[in-house]
Parts: sequence; C-alpha cells; structure tokens
Amino acid sequence: MRALSDRKILFFGGKGGVGKTTCAAAVALSASRRGKRVLLVSTDPAHSTSDIFETPITSEEREILPGLSGLEIDASLETRRYVDRVKGQISNLFSPATLKKADAQIELAATMPGAESVALFDRMTELMIDRKDIYDLVVFDTAPTGHTLRLLQSPELLVTWVTALTKARRAMLPEDLEVPDPVLAALERRQDRLQDVRALMMREKATAFVLVTIPERLPIEEAARSLETLSEVGIQVGEIVVNRVLPEHATGDFYESRRRQEQVYLDEIDRRFAHLPRLRVPQLDSDIHGLKSLECISELLQC
Ligand SMILES: Nc1ncnc2c1ncn2[C@@H]1O[C@H](COP(=O)(O)OP(=O)(O)OP(=O)(O)O)[C@@H](O)[C@H]1O
Ligand SMILES: [Mg+2]
Repeated sequence: MRALSDRKILFFGGKGGVGKTTCAAAVALSASRRGKRVLLVSTDPAHSTSDIFETPITSEEREILPGLSGLEIDASLETRRYVDRVKGQISNLFSPATLKKADAQIELAATMPGAESVALFDRMTELMIDRKDIYDLVVFDTAPTGHTLRLLQSPELLVTWVTALTKARRAMLPEDLEVPDPVLAALERRQDRLQDVRALMMREKATAFVLVTIPERLPIEEAARSLETLSEVGIQVGEIVVNRVLPEHATGDFYESRRRQEQVYLDEIDRRFAHLPRLRVPQLDSDIHGLKSLECISELLQC
C-alpha cells in the first residue's frame, strides 16, 4: 500500500461497512506522518472519520493533525446546493408560471436514483482539481460507482442529453428562443471539468483505486462488479484489501467452523482477483477508534 500512497489521489471503494473509511484514514495518517501534505475527504453521513480521529471533521477543511487535513462532504447537502444552483441559473429566464413548472421538474430530477452520487462526485471533482497543488495526496473514503463512472466515461453524453432537452424546451417556449441558455453553458463547463478529471483519474501514476472487501459473499460480488465497471471505463485497481479476516489466535469450535467458511471465500477472492495485488487485514478485537488502533491498521496495511 505504501507505493499507492505516492499517488496524488486515492479512492476507497467497496460495499457498505467493509472498512473503506477505516482504511482511508489509516493510509492518510501514515502518509502525513511521512511528511506528505494530505487531505482526507470523508463522505460518511455517520461521521465515522470524526469518530476515528476523535475530533470533529466538518464541511470546513481544517488541519486535524500535523500535515493531515480533514473535510466532510455531505451528499444530500451537495444535491441541495446543486439543485439551488440550477434553479438560480434559470430563474430569470422564464415567466413565473413556467418557472414553477421548471422548478418542479428540477426537484423531481434531484430525487432520481443516482442524483446524490452525481452531486457528490461533482464536489469531489472540484476538490481533485482545486486542491491538487495544495496537497501531495487527496484521499477519498469512497469511490465513484456505476452511474457516476459511466458519466465519467462519456462526459459528452451529458451535453448531448442536455442539448436534446433544451431543444425540446425551446420548442415549447418560442418566446425564449433568443435567450442564451445558462443551464446549457453551465453543463458545458461541467463537461470540460469532467474531461479534466477523467484524464487525472485515468493517469496511473496520479490516481489509484483501492477495493475493500471482507470474506463474505455480497461484499465479494460488489467488489467484482466495481472492478468490472472500472475496467470498462479504463481505470485500473491498484490493490484489493481483504479486511476483517479472522485472526489466527481465535480458537474454539465456533471459530474453527467460521474459519472453514471464511477459507472458502478467501480462496474465491484469490481466484477471482488473481491479477490484483491483495492484502489481508485481520479483524481486530474492537472497533477502530483513536490513533492507536488506527496506527495498528496502518501497519497491517503496510503503509
Ligand atoms: N480490521 C478491523 N477490525 C475491527 N474492526 C474493524 C476493522 N475494519 C473496520 N472495522 C470496524 O468496522 C466498522 C465499519 O468500518 P468503516 O466505517 O471503515 O466501513 P465503511 O466501508 O467506511 O462503511 P460505510 O460504507 O458505512 O461508509 C467500523 O466500526 C470500524 O471500526
Ligand atoms: Mg465509510
């Protein structure tokens, strides 16, 4: 994992609860201790990064330890901001009656599946571009998934789609024909940014994706799906972390039986992800909380 933290950007992906935030925090901590300027970006609504560091991590970026800054972004807040921004952009374009309908459409779009992850990724994109010169390393405790990755794969789709929508809208509203469309302009800017960030994310020396899983069926399936989407998009996975492996010192009938079951999944992981570097991290005897247990994870992650 040490080699991976020499990149500029790290993403931790995987099913809910497998240990993404824990691993991201451990890697960020050890990189900062090696003298790097690190920004750890948390996306967890449960504020687990604040719990781990036992200090509040807020939407204001701030140094939490020497060389290590933290920032929490909230997907639902980002969606709200995004919606308000779009509404603001169209507010002086239409008559009040039309505007009311348009606003209702925008509100509806914001409830669609994927809207939150798109708004979240929009904010992550901003950070990747704006912060890459201030920090040596930016660590995200989550990774873009299906919907977002596909958008990244073809940013031009965004504009094609919006152009079609705009045409339809203009056909319905001839009085607005002469007005330049700020929504379209904003989306075009967004397309440019997506193209920049895509280049950054695909550059192997700049960005690494780490897939976190545990030796259980569903998390393995999730990791396999992510891997497939990532490779479709042309992004390589740097490492797979197999977290919460039963520790060797756990003995007794119960553990023996669990271990036999676990071995089946460990073998499956070795088989299905044979081409990826894999790292096993044992289950510790308590949750990861405070610097001491985090250091323990850093060590196990060899970072
Ligand atoms: N190796 C480990 N040993 C013991 N506890 C662990 C280990 N790894 C993670 N945990 C604990 O498991 C819980 C989930 O971990 P974490 O919050 O890092 O997962 P996550 O993938 O970020 O979850 P979410 O998808 O909800 O954001 C936490 O309570 C954490 O302390
Ligand atoms: Mg998390």
